[in-house]
Amino acid sequence: MTFVRVATLSELETDTPKRVEVDGTPVSLVQTEGEVFAINDICSHANVSLSEGEVEDCAIECWLHGSSFDLRTGKPSGLPATRPVPVYPVKIEGDDVLVSVTQES
Ligand code: FES
Repeated sequence: MTFVRVATLSELETDTPKRVEVDGTPVSLVQTEGEVFAINDICSHANVSLSEGEVEDCAIECWLHGSSFDLRTGKPSGLPATRPVPVYPVKIEGDDVLVSVTQES
């Protein structure tokens, strides 16, 4: 699993998603409830950027139709989305935020 440095902690604002690219994959980084989460930035319902949505209760809400995705699991809490969005492991090293979008083989 390859971790890539994508941001620093000081660049992240609580509950304000930041869109980054990791090996060509769009990822929304979210600092909330004292942790940093990485979730694929594209809604599973349509091609919409989740990082433009709001963060609440450890979930990110798609601004277009309102499905919320759990930042820990990627699962939607309600319609219209039915499929989860991939979530990725995050490592913090000092002030650096690292994400891996590769699967362990
Ligand atoms: S595009 Fe995200 S819920 Fe419809």
